[in-house]
Amino acid sequence: MNINNLMVTGGCGFIGSNFIHYVLKETGFAGRIINVDKLTYAGNPENLKGIGERFGNRYVFQKMDICDAGGMGKIFSDYNVDAVCHFAAESHVDRSIKRPESFIYTNIIGTFNLLELARARADKFVLFHHVSTDEVFGSLGDAGYFTEETPYRPNSPYSASKAASDHLVRAYHETYGLPVVISNCSNNYGPYQFPEKLIPLMILNAVEGKPLPVYGDGRNVRDWLYVKDHCEAIWTIMQSGERGGTFNIGGNSEMENIVIVEMICDLLDEVLPSPAGMSRRKLITFVKDRPGHDRRYAIDFGKLQKQLGWAPRESFASGIRKTITWYLENKAWIENIRSGEYQTWIDEHYGED
Ligand code: NAD
Ligand code: TYD
Repeated sequence: MNINNLMVTGGCGFIGSNFIHYVLKETGFAGRIINVDKLTYAGNPENLKGIGERFGNRYVFQKMDICDAGGMGKIFSDYNVDAVCHFAAESHVDRSIKRPESFIYTNIIGTFNLLELARARADKFVLFHHVSTDEVFGSLGDAGYFTEETPYRPNSPYSASKAASDHLVRAYHETYGLPVVISNCSNNYGPYQFPEKLIPLMILNAVEGKPLPVYGDGRNVRDWLYVKDHCEAIWTIMQSGERGGTFNIGGNSEMENIVIVEMICDLLDEVLPSPAGMSRRKLITFVKDRPGHDRRYAIDFGKLQKQLGWAPRESFASGIRKTITWYLENKAWIENIRSGEYQTWIDEHYGED
């Protein structure tokens, strides 16, 4: 498939920035990337350090809110955008429980604006790839997997807003013939993830000897997908995934939260023993459960594997080691994050009610 000007929304966030590194450095893509990001608390230009210098005019950054239809329209026409890979979103469930409004604007209205702009470009537009989540399917019991046929049953304001955007994307294909594809993936982890999410939060707190807050009984299950595997899956789907279709992406790594936290403690004790030789497991603190906390997510990615030959390369054991090493080696990035809104979030979330 021939893309010349690929707009990546949310390219300064966790997955979007990994995707830009991957596409420019590892795929042979010869076109231009236009990264559009509002730079919320989760958007960090440091994630793309060196990309502008290395790729010159093949990489453009535009600070813009996807809810600003006029501003976005100008970017579409200035850069002759012929494809979109849409990552920009409010992405954290706990924040959506406290303050859902921005999730409705960015995730629903923002996606609607992009679809309208793509539609207006008619036959100049070749692909709208919508990056979504397995959380749209709701919660599983002890057995079974989410497939592409699982009915939507979102339980948090975040997942409901993502579900709404998925429906809009699908409708633009059915109604207007827009060339779209949707991917629903499991929990990502890896470099550049903002430390409000489980894995980077636990790594940083454990390094600093702070409490490790585990929600409820710690037995909730997530499937974990190494971010680079996710990027490779998206690129594979963009090349040859059936238009109008959806693909589940999973990491083959179902884990209970408490097991992950214990693993992080043990790996850190191995590579960076705590000063008093204390086991970091002692830092684990069970806290009040998240309201509406989904019990289990698990993904069947058989369609993607059979149709396009993709499977994750990383096991959880190898991916978590790489991730811990990255956080230990990138202290400047962490200091940068910590100097901003992150501290306010931690104070609000874990401080007195
Ligand atoms: P993130 O929160 O790290 O990054 C989101 C990015 O979007 C940030 O750079 C932010 O500045 C930008 N953004 C937010 N609102 C914007 C707006 N109105 N206009 C322009 N830019 C805006 O998120 P992430 O973890 O990288 O997730 C990327 C996508 O993948 C999201 O759509 C999310 O729903 C989906 N997803 C994430 C996971 C995961 O585990 N992180 C799992 C499944 C799906
Ligand atoms: P999170 O990283 O927020 O991703 P999501 O809610 O999108 O799955 O949380 C992953 C799991 O870890 C989820 O079951 C909630 C749990 N969790 C904790 O137990 N403690 C924490 O401090 C956080 C942030 C999450």
